Amino acid sequence: MNKKIFALLAIFSVMVLSSCGRNVKIFSGTFDRILKKMTLEEKAMLVTGAAAFSPADTLLEGQAAGAAGATTPIERINLPAISFADGPAGLRLDSEHTWYPCGTMLACSWDTELVENVASRIAEEARSKGVDVMLGPGMNIQRNPLGGRNFEYFSEDPYLTGKMAAAYVNGLQDKGVGACVKHFALNNQESGRSFNNARVSPRALREIYLKGFEMVVRESRPWAVMSSTNRINGVYASQSEALLTNLLRAEWGFDGVVVSGWGAADSIAAMLHAGNDLIEPGSRQAYEDIIGAVESGRLSEAELNVNARRVIDLLGRCSLKFEDAPMQHSIEEHIALARRCAADGMVLLENKDRFLPITAEKYPYVAVFGQDTLIAGGLGSSTVNTSHIPVLSEALANAGFHIAENAEDADVAFVVISRGATEGEDRPLSDFYLSKDENKMLNDVCRSFHEQNKKVAVILNTGGVIETASWKNLPDALLLAWLPGQEGGNAIADIVTGAVTPSGHLAQSFPIDCKDVASSSNFPMSELKSAKGKQVKNFDYTNYQEGIYVGYRYFDTFKKEVSYPFGYGLTYTTFSMDDPELFEYRFKNLMEVVVEVTNTGDMPGRAVVQLYVKAPMRGMQEKPAKELRAFAKTKELKPGETEIVTFPLTKTEFASYNEASCSWIVDSGTYIFMSGNSSADITGETARYFEKSISIPVEDVLALDSPINELRVRKSFFREHVRKDKSTSTKRTTNQVSKSVTPDTTAIVPAAVLNQR
Ligand code: BGC
Repeated sequence: MNKKIFALLAIFSVMVLSSCGRNVKIFSGTFDRILKKMTLEEKAMLVTGAAAFSPADTLLEGQAAGAAGATTPIERINLPAISFADGPAGLRLDSEHTWYPCGTMLACSWDTELVENVASRIAEEARSKGVDVMLGPGMNIQRNPLGGRNFEYFSEDPYLTGKMAAAYVNGLQDKGVGACVKHFALNNQESGRSFNNARVSPRALREIYLKGFEMVVRESRPWAVMSSTNRINGVYASQSEALLTNLLRAEWGFDGVVVSGWGAADSIAAMLHAGNDLIEPGSRQAYEDIIGAVESGRLSEAELNVNARRVIDLLGRCSLKFEDAPMQHSIEEHIALARRCAADGMVLLENKDRFLPITAEKYPYVAVFGQDTLIAGGLGSSTVNTSHIPVLSEALANAGFHIAENAEDADVAFVVISRGATEGEDRPLSDFYLSKDENKMLNDVCRSFHEQNKKVAVILNTGGVIETASWKNLPDALLLAWLPGQEGGNAIADIVTGAVTPSGHLAQSFPIDCKDVASSSNFPMSELKSAKGKQVKNFDYTNYQEGIYVGYRYFDTFKKEVSYPFGYGLTYTTFSMDDPELFEYRFKNLMEVVVEVTNTGDMPGRAVVQLYVKAPMRGMQEKPAKELRAFAKTKELKPGETEIVTFPLTKTEFASYNEASCSWIVDSGTYIFMSGNSSADITGETARYFEKSISIPVEDVLALDSPINELRVRKSFFREHVRKDKSTSTKRTTNQVSKSVTPDTTAIVPAAVLNQR
């Protein structure tokens, strides 16, 4: 492309930016006709973000300042532009918007309705500012506690992640705002994030890292997916045809646009060819590369047409609401929701002698130690502009407490332990532990208050998992408040006073030590830098040697003690859960598991019922000790009130991926269905024998180029277990409970230990 023509085009498009109408409606019947009318240059402009053709601060018609990007309008054929804004913790623009809790905290609510509601409110604010697509939800797996963007992501578990993401997408799209789920895939570390080569087995990919994305695509049909900037088994995610075309589109049925991660650019032609349709935020270089690639035959115009048509399709979806008046909404309601979801996502970790809740009548004076001004959220894409900064002492004062001028006058101490988080950096190992000063503060406050028979509550204001085992018994209460958004202070006060009964449960395990996590030797534990001529481990490449053993799948299977298990959370009341009952239908492999929950305590509260399944082992195919396969949160139950929770399930949901046959397989054998309050607190179980195995062949994609010596349980254990499973497997009828087939995992030894023998 010659420079003069580019300059003319640029002038032309700047004009376009201010004149192309947003009230054009584009119906699907016209997509092909629009495409036919377009020149090569126009198609190249359409798939290159607007920043290529205008100064970064030029606004499109109807676009709000501070949006992350936009498509390029093509005035000649009256094709409008659409704009993208960041999230997912709220609408990120220059203007002021509601800052909701981080993704991790939303997941800890285990409440999909709540998450859908939050996304709807974000969509209302987006619509009011002319934003067409929200860049969220973020849904990568929290592989290691030190992952820099964990706070934006939901969980270490793919099922919980998939359900939360699907709810979020539904909330946005039902209000006419597109969702762009991100970052597809394997953005599990920030160190070297734009080139790091994640080396992962196909099984771990399918079961752990891609499962949530598969669920969200199948269940809620997002309009867009953002490719990640890292590589997967040697190929950039944004240039991987296997990932973006074979898997995402052909296998899962995705019919939207793949948008690049901002600034990702190795080979633009390879990206478009692979199915990465839109290059954001766009650059002159990208535009020229596309024209050059078509002219030289490296990219056919037919391929470019496919990308351009998909972008037209996205413009079409967005256009169907352009005429509507900006959506009316009440900011007060949004703020109230931010408060409610922060309270519902907090996890009460300790509460000795039922210390909490407390009243201002009984404990009039309180003191706050540590950071009184709370950290509302993480830095980067999910930072929202707000003037509402949560301050704990102010919130406690609003709830009726007096803030003691001198520590000695306080009846109760609140100690805040804070950890910020930011996009672009992983947490250093030191961030996992309390600092010397924090330790001293905690010990001093606990000692002096306890000497006077006064109580201490610790508030953890953190974006990620931290060490708790060595000090969690010091305070009287420990409340995990995550990065709670702008209403975090008031939400803490709601929990402290009992205005809201805590109902949050951990969406991730809290290990005793960071090094206990199976990925710890394959994760950047300190700042790493590139070295000339050398591939730096955990920076240039990362071997996912832990395979499927992420989070509780590792701790449970390998019998490793944790400080708090996945799914854990205390409340102010007590619940009883009956053993699960299983009803099998004779068609379509359908079944239902029913669990009855009763509030047996003396306060109203909501229970989270978690259903885990242990699948039988066949041959050398390992299975984790348990996997979350369903969950539900009850309504607020009054003391004595009961709710019956029903989980509809299909057998295929219990499949594991078999690499040898490239298929999802539901093995025949005995399945154990365990319900409970956490992965470690199973209150009841039932078993069912599946006579026939089910096999679903899929395409062999994303293979490793060389083995990575994945973590495995001891081989002899398998032989033993397979024998045991065969001998105990009899055909079972509904409601028959079997505890006899629970695996004896004492024989499991980590590969690392085995290697030393
Ligand atoms: C981030 C995304 C973000 C985008 C636009 C990218 O670099 O990884 O999360 O949505 O920039 O700001």
